[in-house]
Amino acid sequence: MVNFLIFGPPGSGKGTQSVKLAEKFNLVHLSTGDMLRAEIATGTDLGKRMSSIMSKGELVPDEVVIEMIACKIDHSKGSAGFLFDGFPRTVAQTIALEKMLNDRKMKIDSVLVLEVEHDELVKRLVARAELSGRPDDKDPAVIENRIDVYKSKTEPIINYCRERGIYQPVNGMGSIEDVFRRLSKYMKKYL
Ligand code: AP5
Ligand code: MG
Repeated sequence: MVNFLIFGPPGSGKGTQSVKLAEKFNLVHLSTGDMLRAEIATGTDLGKRMSSIMSKGELVPDEVVIEMIACKIDHSKGSAGFLFDGFPRTVAQTIALEKMLNDRKMKIDSVLVLEVEHDELVKRLVARAELSGRPDDKDPAVIENRIDVYKSKTEPIINYCRERGIYQPVNGMGSIEDVFRRLSKYMKKYL
């Protein structure tokens, strides 16, 4: 099994690219954002508790997403590996994921970090707000908060990954197809 993290600020294209890459390389796409939105959509207790945190653009507690991912890892068989999208988002989540994988004789093979300019992130998310119905896309202040939270809580993971030799920056500017070609090139080295 080969396991990738797709990383980058809100609006960098993680979800868009993950769907395409998972199909191309037979990977299981695990997005904690999608899982949390599914909990909200089905009206579970967890969804109710998490929705106000998410609509402010803050991170939900580490243990909530770690538990979600742990459940999925043991129920996803027959693929080439996992593509983690939007998880981990803190160093504590990264350590928890490494342990989960190591316990199952796996590891994080590569961390693909999409690099996109700030104004382009905001432009993409404002445009998506029209269609997505996501409360965290509707308010420009929440978009800015999500970008700030990424810088303060999530970016430190990059140093952690650099020290382990698994950090791979990728230019996330340009068309969806251009970015897909760049990501595919890096992933092919492992598959
Ligand atoms: P999450 O769902 O992960 O959202 P996010 O990080 O804010 O990122 P987005 O999904 O908004 O952006 P993306 O990078 O996936 O871009 P996309 O491909 O959609 O998290 C939401 C919330 O859940 C968090 O704020 C937090 O509260 C909670 N949460 C989730 N995981 C958590 C965790 N692990 N720990 C704690 N809390 C967690 O693209 C954006 C738009 O741009 C789309 O409309 C797309 O069509 C367009 N687009 C994409 N690529 C291009 C391109 N190349 N050119 C033009 N347009 C493009
Ligand atoms: Mg996403």
